Amino acid sequence: MKERILVTGGTGYIGSHTVVELQNSGYEVIIVDNLSNSGADVVDNIEKVSGIRPAFEHLDCLDLNGMDALFAKYAGIKAIIHFAASKAVGESVQKPLLYYRNNLLSLINLLELMPKHNVGGIVFSSSCTVYGQPDELPVTEQAPIKKAESPYGNTKQINEEIICDTIASGSPISAILLRYFNPIGAHPTALLGELPNGVPQNLIPYLTQTAMGIREKLNVFGDDYNTPDGSCVRDFINVVDLAKAHVVAIARILQQKQKAKVETFNIGTGRGLSVLELISVFEQSTGVKLNYQIVGRRAGDIEKVWANPDYANTELGWKSETSIEDTLRSAWAWQLKLREKGIQ
Ligand code: NAD
Ligand code: WQD
Repeated sequence: MKERILVTGGTGYIGSHTVVELQNSGYEVIIVDNLSNSGADVVDNIEKVSGIRPAFEHLDCLDLNGMDALFAKYAGIKAIIHFAASKAVGESVQKPLLYYRNNLLSLINLLELMPKHNVGGIVFSSSCTVYGQPDELPVTEQAPIKKAESPYGNTKQINEEIICDTIASGSPISAILLRYFNPIGAHPTALLGELPNGVPQNLIPYLTQTAMGIREKLNVFGDDYNTPDGSCVRDFINVVDLAKAHVVAIARILQQKQKAKVETFNIGTGRGLSVLELISVFEQSTGVKLNYQIVGRRAGDIEKVWANPDYANTELGWKSETSIEDTLRSAWAWQLKLREKGIQ
């Protein structure tokens, strides 16, 4: 019998890639998604990639009774990967209550239902945003948590605390918190990728839309930072590599290999790349020239951050594998596919 894993937000960007990797590793996946930021057609594409159609429930994690019924319907769910959340930093400043409600209550519902349905563990999507601007780089999991720059970032910090407090209170569950750095790229088949809503706020979708001619110019926010070329530095992690980290985390929970009931791992490459370097690698690896200009800094941006992924490398046995060139080519192939489908 295949072990059953519930993936909330499983039709989303990172969730869809993770579902495929779970299926490839022999797990049975049940997806819950309210389709607030993804489409049901993603389920078809997951099936095209993996050859297996995952169970899909169009349901909101905020619906406690609905979630209760779901755990009863799919009896024997062993663990959860919780991706479902609202994730737009700027929007969270405009609509903080929407973000606090969605991101906090979805998790609380799951944590309440897990013991009742004998679900042993949860993998939670956290973010390097919890570190703010770290005092030391590369940043380790022991770095202090800095005051959040946005309500979105605050939900990640509070959710980590909610998980820790719940487990400290004696809840019979365990958890792995994965702090992602900057996930980018798409599935090599170009069947799965990121579908930004409206004008993209994140670098890669804005960049590929500009390369496609949908946007006139990419604005590079600032070249006067204290970095080698003055632009911000990030740790860009390939989305399939990131998806694989979840599979390893799930196996660790199911095989009871955890060293503590809550464990935290940085999921990054360990390599910092500046925005200008990234543009140059994009141009070289795709052969596409990008129209861009330097503009002023964006409020709230962190100057530089990249991961120390040693703990994930040694303890999880996970390592980022895909080159930045292949990752950017995959992002471009996905953008071309979107045009083919007439989406963007
Ligand atoms: P995404 O928006 O593509 O996926 C999230 C999915 O959750 C969407 O399909 C959406 O419809 C669904 N969803 C949202 N609220 C829901 C609810 N109440 N009930 C059911 N479904 C709901 O986002 P993503 O980039 O795949 O991010 C996944 C997770 O990773 C999020 O928790 C996000 O905060 C976190 N994260 C993302 C990044 C990033 O840069 N993409 C970085 C760090 C952490
Ligand atoms: C990357 C770099 C921009 C757009 C955000 C969230 C973080 C995490 C990942 C979830 C920055 C620059 C961007 C553009 C640019 N998400 N940029 N022109 O800000 O590192 O992180 O997503 O947890 O919480 O804050 O990602 O892709 O927006 O920006 O110059 O049009 O690209 O200034 O230096 P960021 P990003």
